[in-house]
Amino acid sequence: MILKHAQVVTPEGVKRLDIRIGEGKIAELSPEIAGEGLDCTGLTVFPGLIDMHVHLREPGFERKEDIGSGSRAAVKGGFTQICCMPNTDPVIDNKVVVSYVKARAKEVGLCKIHPIGAITEGQKGETLSKIGAMKGAGAVALSEDGKSVANAHLMANAMQYAADFGLKCLCHCEDAALTDGGVVHEGYYSTLTGLKGSLRAAEDIVIAREICLAESLGLPVHICHVSTYSGVELIREAKARGVQVTAETCPHYFILTDAAIANFDTDTKVNPPLREERDRLAVIEGLKDGTLDCIVSDHAPHHADDKNVEYGLAAFGISGLETSFALSYTALVRENGLTLPALTEKMSAAPARILGLQGGALAVGAPADLTVVNLGEKWTVDPATFLSKGKNTPFKGREVYGKVKITIVDGQIKYEEK
Ligand code: DOR
Ligand code: ZN
Ligand code: ZN
Repeated sequence: MILKHAQVVTPEGVKRLDIRIGEGKIAELSPEIAGEGLDCTGLTVFPGLIDMHVHLREPGFERKEDIGSGSRAAVKGGFTQICCMPNTDPVIDNKVVVSYVKARAKEVGLCKIHPIGAITEGQKGETLSKIGAMKGAGAVALSEDGKSVANAHLMANAMQYAADFGLKCLCHCEDAALTDGGVVHEGYYSTLTGLKGSLRAAEDIVIAREICLAESLGLPVHICHVSTYSGVELIREAKARGVQVTAETCPHYFILTDAAIANFDTDTKVNPPLREERDRLAVIEGLKDGTLDCIVSDHAPHHADDKNVEYGLAAFGISGLETSFALSYTALVRENGLTLPALTEKMSAAPARILGLQGGALAVGAPADLTVVNLGEKWTVDPATFLSKGKNTPFKGREVYGKVKITIVDGQIKYEEK
């Protein structure tokens, strides 16, 4: 297969190149390759997008999503590799469940799926899970996502064991005692709506703790879905001191604020909560200056029954795989001056580097994982068209730019817009 006349984006720059694919790998990259090919005039080719923070819900919550529907949503969203969080039932806390997810992913055969193992057994925060065995079965990281490991001593042990096995801990930062049942950010809009608020400090305290642990131990740590200006500042300062900290954020934190909760739409309910304009701007600044390394969707699909209830009772989460790229391109590149090479760094190269995955760049001999996009195409987010079972998005009705046309994994077309 040859892709012809495409604009090709790499972290180094944007070039007009033809791409020849052979045996699942990139066989040739050159301004002009002879032979018949797929005409990509007007289209842009990115190194396959990678989303390192996705909830696929299988096993246990297939009503919300399963590995098949989640994979279809991923490739429609342009993702060639995704990492799935362990808050399933049973929890992904042992090699059997890791192997199960890998086997199902292979049967589905769309994108590459890398399981993330739980830090503690059953995510109960009591006993470390069998980290080495999970690594052996293919886990690429550890996370307690959905909550933090409350006990700092246990977390320190987790970081050390993880490091022994070449894994990182991906930390959902939330002091549960301080959140205390809060469902939105504590501020003007929590007062206006009467919804129970949660302080920035609930997130920041644990970001600070994980940074302290990483610094004291001389080990790496990754901070999930940063939403506060103060959290961005903690990470910026830690990086300046040489702490091995990396961090991610999500489109909803750089596009929306808590003003979106005013109509009680439960699709705006997410954890950590949507915050204020000051936070939104700091998240954008953090992405621009490298404090925030990457963009993830935190794809958290829920069944309508879990969202069509009063705000306080609704599930936290946004179905994000099918909008993440367009939202990021629109908000960051079109509206905030981020370059295309910087976008591919945030959505492909950085996650690959953080987790030690192959990918993130286009080079001869590398797996042919490619995302082909029409950047000029404007479309409207309509959850009815989602392939994910989760239709829960606060972006419904929003106009965005950047339509994924083709997603190629190991040289095979896994999604093509009809
Ligand atoms: O909004 C969220 N949804 N935040 C989390 O931490 C967990 C996730 C989920 O699993 O639904
Ligand atoms: Zn989380
Ligand atoms: Zn999550």
